[in-house]
Amino acid sequence: MRNGDTAGYEQTYARSLDDPEGFWEEAAEAVHWGQRWVKVLDDRNPPFYRWFSGARLNTCYNCVDLHVEEGRRKQTAIIYDSPITGDVARITYGELLELVSRFAGVLRGLGVEKGDRVLIYMPMIPQALVAMLASARLGAVHSVVFGGFAASELATRLEDAEPKVVVTASCGIEPSGVIEYKPLVDRAFDLVSEKPQACVVYQRPQATATILPGRDHDWEELMRSAVPAGPVLVEATDPLYILYTSGTTGKPKGVVRDNGGHAVALKWSMKNIYNVGPGEVFWAASDVGWVVGHSYIVYAPLLVGAATVVFEGKPVGTPDPGVFWRVIQEHKVKALFTAPTAMRAIRREDPKGSHLQKYDVSGLRALFLAGERLDSDTFHWASDLLKRPVIDHWWQTETGWAICANCMGLDPLPVKAGSPTKPVPGYDARLLDSTGQPVPPPAEGLLAIRLPLPPGCLTTLWQNDEGFIDSYMREYPGFYVTGDGGYIDEDGYVFVMGRVDDVINVAGHRLSTGRMEEVISQHPDVAECAVVGIADGLKGHVPLGLVVVKLGSTTEPEQLVNEIRSLVRQQIGAVASFREVVLVHRLPKTRSGKILRSTIAKIADKRPFSIPSTIDDPSTLDEIQDVLAARAR
Ligand code: COA
Ligand code: AMP
Repeated sequence: MRNGDTAGYEQTYARSLDDPEGFWEEAAEAVHWGQRWVKVLDDRNPPFYRWFSGARLNTCYNCVDLHVEEGRRKQTAIIYDSPITGDVARITYGELLELVSRFAGVLRGLGVEKGDRVLIYMPMIPQALVAMLASARLGAVHSVVFGGFAASELATRLEDAEPKVVVTASCGIEPSGVIEYKPLVDRAFDLVSEKPQACVVYQRPQATATILPGRDHDWEELMRSAVPAGPVLVEATDPLYILYTSGTTGKPKGVVRDNGGHAVALKWSMKNIYNVGPGEVFWAASDVGWVVGHSYIVYAPLLVGAATVVFEGKPVGTPDPGVFWRVIQEHKVKALFTAPTAMRAIRREDPKGSHLQKYDVSGLRALFLAGERLDSDTFHWASDLLKRPVIDHWWQTETGWAICANCMGLDPLPVKAGSPTKPVPGYDARLLDSTGQPVPPPAEGLLAIRLPLPPGCLTTLWQNDEGFIDSYMREYPGFYVTGDGGYIDEDGYVFVMGRVDDVINVAGHRLSTGRMEEVISQHPDVAECAVVGIADGLKGHVPLGLVVVKLGSTTEPEQLVNEIRSLVRQQIGAVASFREVVLVHRLPKTRSGKILRSTIAKIADKRPFSIPSTIDDPSTLDEIQDVLAARAR
């Protein structure tokens, strides 16, 4: 049996683990290579496994040129729909080829060559995809930064990735108004020691950015005079992009993805997980700044020759909770991928689904949800409303594609609410206890993946091999530790219960509580602080800050709380949704000085908790209980 055939999930899964090289070699036939591999899995230097070593390809060629050469020049590649501006545009594969070739020429003209970094800070407009693909075309390495991040977060990423060129737009548009990007970029340039050589600005009609002569360039002007550039072959193992994600410390981790394994895995996933193929419309309602955007707005749909929807809007308020159903009808979307938060937002405003009745969504085959735990209520609500499969799938920035899913292109399994089903072929998911021993059902443990990871997963952290090992591999040799806890039931279904570290998911956005603590501590009146994630009916989790004020501080409490809120907003960004701050006299700690964050979170969520035996002073919990109870009233 070949892995592309509609085989049973169980057989396919077993084969992927019994013969990973054979399995992925077959999948690799779907990709266009400039040179074939010498070794499918190069395992000479664990845990730095490399897929398709010796092979050469160009990812942009596979996403664009190949389809034009195969006769799909006139087929739609990108559908841009902005309920915020009222614009709808379609870009064919032929037009996309013209745009990316030209923009690759622009980048080359600014000195970008294979291996150089290009930082992209853009809203949800087609030019963001063009910039990413153009970078890939030259064999450069892009690093896209989510538009909701503040200047200092952008600066941290500039400092680490050391891009030659920054690509941005004059503004993003949020329901709250126009957000000018250029002042943020300028500020980030000021903050870094090694400045990028150039900045390309796409001017949108809603705001005009100031162009700094010598450094800044107008996108359209450069495009007019650019010499189109062809695809540059790179090693399969060369980096395609760096995507920074939140870790447990304040410093974001630069997840590195390769070219070859990425193309193979994503192409395989489109058929086998999402069951979407050439000419069909796939919509990932996320943002290019997140991993979902990288994989399923940009690369995967284009790798298979589908059309991808670039949606610049929100599930509600742009203009109403029917916008998702309108987009599905208007653009004939076959599969929608979004975060559970989006469904909760729609449900909150339209619990009976009356907006859905106005649209014909009969073409939609399935709804895929990821980014945070899918609660049973939302699962049942969406399933009952849409009357088609609602697929919970679990993955992370690091893996780049789903670890667990109900694979719609294989024969789908029965669903269990609360579970993203079983591991996807290629992933040997295990449950470990704190000593690294396997945990039998029904106990909870740490979710880990036995090495090697399948193609498409991170190959290292940017210029930080040691950090890669320390973060994911050191604790349990031979395994990749996901940072999520959960359990695996008797039928092999995986249940992901949440992070076991200091990472939280706010509206499907991954944030580090450690980073927020770092920022709050900068306030001169703050002696110490703790940030925990607490349950929120809409966003899944939101951060709550507990702050101990310095003795002698004369700032009024209300003012202090406001100053702390705006500090987080300025330094991390509005996306942190940091609003809840309480002032306390002491933080509960263990005798060794570790803040009891999970106990605080349980108290805030009114969940049962026990007083840890390691607590230094149990009376500290009394104040926390009082303060948090007062806050709830
Ligand atoms: N650029 C600038 N600012 C941005 C931004 C961007 N790209 N994205 C979000 N923000 C800002 C918002 O304007 C908001 O600012 P405010 O505090 O001034 O209102 C803040 O960041 C929080 O935004 P958001 O997380 O979108 O929350 P919201 O309360 O505005 O909307 C939802 C709530 C549920 C509608 C929204 O979170 C949503 O659509 N979630 C879908 C989840 C998703 O796409 N996840 C991606 C991973 S799959
Ligand atoms: P990110 O790296 O931003 O994609 O966030 C990854 C984290 O989101 C995971 O480690 C999980 O904690 C959480 N997550 C993603 N998908 C799911 C899911 N289907 N169920 C539960 N948690 C999820």
